[in-house]
Amino acid sequence: MTTNLFQEYALNDSITLKNKILMAPLTRCMADDELIPTQAVVDYYARRADAGLIITEATIIRPDGQGYPNTPGLYTSAQIEGWQKVTDAVHAKGGKIFAQLWHTGRVAHPHFFGEGSVPRMRELVYQVPKAATQDDIKQLVKDYAQAAANAIDAGFDGIEIHGANGYLIDQFLHHASNQRADNYGKTCHVLH
Ligand SMILES: Cc1cc2nc3c(=O)[nH]c(=O)nc-3n(C[C@H](O)[C@H](O)[C@H](O)COP(=O)(O)O)c2cc1C
Repeated sequence: MTTNLFQEYALNDSITLKNKILMAPLTRCMADDELIPTQAVVDYYARRADAGLIITEATIIRPDGQGYPNTPGLYTSAQIEGWQKVTDAVHAKGGKIFAQLWHTGRVAHPHFFGEGSVPRMRELVYQVPKAATQDDIKQLVKDYAQAAANAIDAGFDGIEIHGANGYLIDQFLHHASNQRADNYGKTCHVLH
């Protein structure tokens, strides 16, 4: 078993992992206040680069995707430069690393991107979500694509789209939260 675990694994034609150990995405809230990965983040991932593949903590694609303090982003050049240090450190140890792209959807809170600083997180209450318009959705798709391009610029080997845990994409996939009547709604049998 362990012989197998420590064997290389060809993920696709261009990416071969040095073993079959994967690190799951784990939000750590260690980015600075500009949502740039810090040296502590570089060290954290470098220490785990013996894994064949690391999926990063969820990383927001744009400011209004933020729902928690100090979660990193991938939409400013300073954030891209910060991540470059992370990917360099992981690659130096022979590891591979994917960025997990995130928009928290209805969990997002204007505390983080609109209203300035209120340092009492526990007193924040969820906001009433509004349905995305078709134009909002087109813009979101573009912003996911831009964040993916930024990830490649930052030296990542790939990306994972966070599609679980009640965040934006997941909100589209559940009948309770997706009450749309359009082509992104629950009456639609084919996802476009
Ligand atoms: C502190 C913490 C942070 C997490 N952050 C993320 C995250 O950013 N993205 C994600 O997809 N899953 C996240 N998860 C879920 C884990 O990646 C994992 O899927 C989950 O813990 C279930 O795996 P397990 O059964 O091995 O614990 C987080 C879990 C924990 C405990």
